[in-house]
Amino acid sequence: MAVSVPGATQMIFEQIATGGCRSYLIGCEETRAALVIDPAAQQIEHTLALASRHGLRIRYVADTHTHADHFSAAQELSRRLSIPALMHTLAPARHADFRLAHGEILRCGTLRVQALHTPGHTRDSMCLLTEGRVFTGDTLLIGGTGRTDLPTGDPTALHASLFTILAALPPDTRVHPAHEYKGRGHSTIGDEFATNPRLQKRDRAAFVEMMRDLNLAAPIHLTEALRTNMSGGKTIDQMLADAAAAVPFIAIEDLHARLAAGDPGLVLLDVREREAYEAGHIPGARHLPRGLLELRVNTDLPDPTAHILVVCDLGHISTLAAATLRELGFQHATALDGGLTAWRERGLPLTLGSAP
Ligand SMILES: [Fe+2]
Repeated sequence: MAVSVPGATQMIFEQIATGGCRSYLIGCEETRAALVIDPAAQQIEHTLALASRHGLRIRYVADTHTHADHFSAAQELSRRLSIPALMHTLAPARHADFRLAHGEILRCGTLRVQALHTPGHTRDSMCLLTEGRVFTGDTLLIGGTGRTDLPTGDPTALHASLFTILAALPPDTRVHPAHEYKGRGHSTIGDEFATNPRLQKRDRAAFVEMMRDLNLAAPIHLTEALRTNMSGGKTIDQMLADAAAAVPFIAIEDLHARLAAGDPGLVLLDVREREAYEAGHIPGARHLPRGLLELRVNTDLPDPTAHILVVCDLGHISTLAAATLRELGFQHATALDGGLTAWRERGLPLTLGSAP
């Protein structure tokens, strides 16, 4: 939906929801230049499709802060589109190659997007202000605020950010947070300062005490989110998805039929640990544990043209192993879809004992 703010530049605005997370695509109506704010890893294709639908060219991707609870797509979008990844100057992420300090303005087409440094939820939190809207990250939520108990959080700093920086914005400024758990679209600065329970604690000491007493559970993906968002490294899901994209899979039924027909051209390779292999493997499977794959590949798999079918318990490790084999030149390496678990569930035969 294109939203026209009276007296302002025409702006294209899209909100993208991923569970409780909110990302935004904003674009200049005139030049079609666009900025993505707080993109989520699961929504990369959706975000690109939305930009296409509006005829937008994404020129920048921004994270309002180092996210600790979900995986940012900023680095991936930055790399795919060859565009700058924006963060605040204090952000630890190495891939953030366009850093904004408090008050600095990014020009995106005719849009002017101003960074407001609002530490508290994290040290590197910033809000982005443009066209009567403020993208508040986790500094200010609808009816709440971001937490201050995760790494670099600071309730005293959050109090200052809320009551000196955000409170100074015009009351009709629309608030677009990075999280919203009740499906509400947006709020305004005026509404938040009038009704948000946390903003009723105006006294600094009372606010800090309230934030310290929240006793929130840690986010599920805290360690992995901080690791990947700060370093630009891959999540485990990304690693598996990349491997799965490079490897063909064989269905259980197909393998069963091939074994029944005595297919001599298939090398069945079980990459689980020895104990698991000996407790039951697919008849005829050779054993080469994943940890020894690179060390033993030359002796155990002398034919790089062989049709190798890699098997593990669930189909994840075998996918990684098959991808490794392909990188090593085994162009016919495949993985068993669903692994031994799916094989067992169908009641198919297993052989006990050590490898011949
Ligand atoms: Fe956050």
